[in-house]
Amino acid sequence: MPGITLGDTVPNLEVETTLKNFKLHDYFADSWTVLFSHPGDFTPVCTTELGAMGKYAHEFEHRGVKLLGLSCDDVQSHKDWIKDIEAFTPGSKVKYPIIADPNKEIIPQLNMIDPIENGPSRALHIVGPDCKIKLSFLYPSTTGRNMDEVLRALDSLLMASKHNNKIATPVNWKPDEPVVISPSVSDTEAKKLFPQGFKTADLPSKKGYMRLTDVS
Ligand code: BEZ
Repeated sequence: MPGITLGDTVPNLEVETTLKNFKLHDYFADSWTVLFSHPGDFTPVCTTELGAMGKYAHEFEHRGVKLLGLSCDDVQSHKDWIKDIEAFTPGSKVKYPIIADPNKEIIPQLNMIDPIENGPSRALHIVGPDCKIKLSFLYPSTTGRNMDEVLRALDSLLMASKHNNKIATPVNWKPDEPVVISPSVSDTEAKKLFPQGFKTADLPSKKGYMRLTDVS
């Protein structure tokens, strides 16, 4: 996808939101942020997604992660829509800010455009405290996102970051499951980094690259 991508700094745009106006870097400072875009207000899939984000909010708070929505309508429309969102998903409270982008000026600058439709997508960036993009999803408007996968991916990023990217998480990984040691780490370094030990899978190639360890 053209435009900002993994490792790039999100532009420090001044945004108008349902809570207050701010510069993006001020919002991102000192924590991780999940920034997610929506094609427009009062649309069915978006209504379910924003409601689910509200319901999962405690999971993000617990991890010290902020939420930031964006939809391509104005603040008053967002505020009216929030009543529908909360009514459709009982127990959901939309306490996180939603950026207004009625003229679709912000969404291309954040690279949250569907290149096939040439219009707004369901994109999601996980942004680090350094204001750089660590992970991106790009879904078309016809496919709602999976909040469990957003959390799972976030947990993987937080775990890898905690271990200075010396570990990685394997397929379908969930917290409390073993992680793999990055190929860039030698066995000698791994012994120092992971005093709890690690297991090397005995594979036909005998290359010794599949090293699993338990971390917390
Ligand atoms: C929706 O949120 O339901 C939606 C938005 C744009 C296009 C298609 C569906």
